[in-house]
Formats: sequence, structure tokens, C-alpha cells
Amino acid sequence: MSAEKKNLDWGNLGFAYIPTDFSYVCNYKNGAWGEGFLTSDHSLQISECAGIFHYCQEVFEGLKAYTTRDGRIVCFRPDLNAERMYASAQRLCMPPFPIDRFIDAVKTVVKANEAWVPPFGSGATLYVRPFMIATGDVIGVKAATEYQFRILVTPVGPYFKGGDTSVKLTISDFDRAAPRGTGNIKAGLNYAMSLYATEAAHHAGYAENLYLDSQTRTFIEETGGANVLFAAADSSLVVPKSATDSILPSITRRSLIVVARDILGMQVVERAVKFEEVQSGAFEECGLCGTAAVISPVAGIEKPEAGISISFPKAANGAGPIMAKLRKTLTDIQTGEAEGPQGWVVEIN
Ligand code: PLP
Ligand code: COI
Repeated sequence: MSAEKKNLDWGNLGFAYIPTDFSYVCNYKNGAWGEGFLTSDHSLQISECAGIFHYCQEVFEGLKAYTTRDGRIVCFRPDLNAERMYASAQRLCMPPFPIDRFIDAVKTVVKANEAWVPPFGSGATLYVRPFMIATGDVIGVKAATEYQFRILVTPVGPYFKGGDTSVKLTISDFDRAAPRGTGNIKAGLNYAMSLYATEAAHHAGYAENLYLDSQTRTFIEETGGANVLFAAADSSLVVPKSATDSILPSITRRSLIVVARDILGMQVVERAVKFEEVQSGAFEECGLCGTAAVISPVAGIEKPEAGISISFPKAANGAGPIMAKLRKTLTDIQTGEAEGPQGWVVEIN
């Protein structure tokens, strides 16, 4: 018997935190991860000298759980989140949380909050946010010796205001990630340093910044919270590749490449994309892809003070045909409406 759903206005949820019944916690001490457990306490009490507060040792993940038409609860490719978090932790000298334990923890916490997984067809999902912080004391710059791995879950609606309507981007004067830096891992530090640029973009009326490569400022990298995709005039999908490995390896992007190529029979080209190519009108559609963003259509990229004004007319009022087809095919797989590749959809039972 599945749990009765909570009485929320599922169709009007934003992307905001709503505490649920349980979070998952596991502590690392004396060189080992302990037993994980569920808690209904959504706050933490840790030392003022904990490494997280001083040197920002934190990594996180994001994935979603869905209710299928027949009432099952599923999540999408948690193994890839587990692997990415493993790599992120290693990069910040944190003890990686074992892959199998990560997947079990996701299942455990989603199952415990089944009543919070939005109903099928509501447009909302349960956002699952695993994260790990340094809880041990450090005062000199070094890695802590104690950590907490935690998963919170919260029901969410669309990431961008206005639902799934088209967004406008601007080009940031700031860089997101340095070559050989941390752009390819999912760590809070990458987001802290982009807040200033994000606020400036919002203030100027844009949903997000499009970042160019910080070495040459000529190639497309990604936005603050999603990878970028283009559809060319010949209907191929063009996926920007970073010359300096400073783009986050989006699980949505990697999945869409398979969906486009193997399910929709599209031509997919992964290559470096020059911003001047985008300016020259080479692409018919542009989309932002990520767990939170799903695929958000981009109507335009503007920076009036630099004379930049690019529009994607097919996305003036919502997704153009290619982004719409990709989005529908992916979300149908994620919600159990269509068969995806083996192992992508993991049932929580
Ligand atoms: N790029 C950045 C900077 C992100 O924060 C995210 C979100 O996770 C993504 C891309 C999309 O990645 P994914 O599809 O794995 O959610
Ligand atoms: C996600 O898509 O899961 C993210 O973590 C992006 C974040 C900006 C909300």
C-alpha cells in the first residue's frame, strides 16, 4: 500500500525548501563511515570550528524521485549521482561515500518520505539533495578528519520562475570555473562565487548567466546551474564541450545525448562551440539542461552594453520543436511512461 500523499498544492510549487518527515544522516569518524540513520531533526549542531565554516569543504548532488501513473516511486540514475559525488569528494580531500551506500540511502530516505513524492501528472517532483560537509575542527588550512553525509528531500516545482516558459540569459563579466579548477565537480564553493554574478543577472532581468571559458572567453561553457544544448538548422543536437574540462558533467546532458542519438535517431555532435558561432545565428534552438532545469528553453542571450542580442525565435513562447521533443522523451522515461535504457529508472520499494 502506498502512503497517502500530503495535502499540498502540488501544481503550484516553486523551487523552494519545504521540510519533509525525514532526512538521512551518516557520520564519518576515526577513519570510517558509521551506520546511517533516518532523522526527523532537520537542523545540525556542529562546532564553530568545523571545516565547512572556514574552508568550505562541502560537496553536493541533486536528483529527483517521481510517482508513476500506477503509483510506484522511482528515481533517475542515482548511480551517476553517487559516482559524481565520489569524484567531487576526492577532489576536496573528503572521504568519498561508498556508491552502493549512496544508492541505498537515497532509496531509504525517499521511501520514508513517500507521502511527499508529488503525485503523477502534478508537474512537481521530489528533489533529493545529498550533501557532505566537514564537521571536524580545523583552524590551519587542511582537510578535516570528521564529516557528515546527509540527504534532505523536498517537493519542488519548476526551477525557473514562470514554470517551463522560455528564459533569457546574459553573458557574465565574471568567470565560473578556472581551467584545472573545480568547475567539473559539484561543490558549494562553485555556487558561492557565482552568486554575485547571478544576482547581477537577475537584477538586470535575466534568468541566468551564460559563462564563457575563462581562459580565452571565446567558448561556451555553461550557466550557473545547468549545461547548455543547441539545435542546429540541420536538426542535429550540438553539445558544447569544454577544452579545459571545466563544465559540470550533467547527468541530464549525458542522458539526453543517448535519448537524442539512440531513441530519437538524431545526429549528436559534442564539440567546442564558439560564442561567435552562436552570435552568427548558427543555431535554431538553445536549451538549459539539468536535474532542476530539466530542459528550459532559451528565448535569447543579451548584453546590451556589449551590443549582444541573440534571439531564438522558435523558443519565443516556450520550447521549440527539438527541445520539446527531447524534454518529452526524457520526462516520459523518468516518470515511467516510456521505456528507457536498462537501469536508468530505479524503483524504490
Ligand atoms: N551544471 C551545473 C553548474 C549544475 O549545478 C547542474 C545541476 O546539477 C548541472 C549543470 C546539471 O547537472 P545534472 O543534469 O546532473 O543535474
Ligand atoms: C540540480 O539541477 O540538481 C542542481 O543542483 C542545480 C542547482 C542550481 C539547483
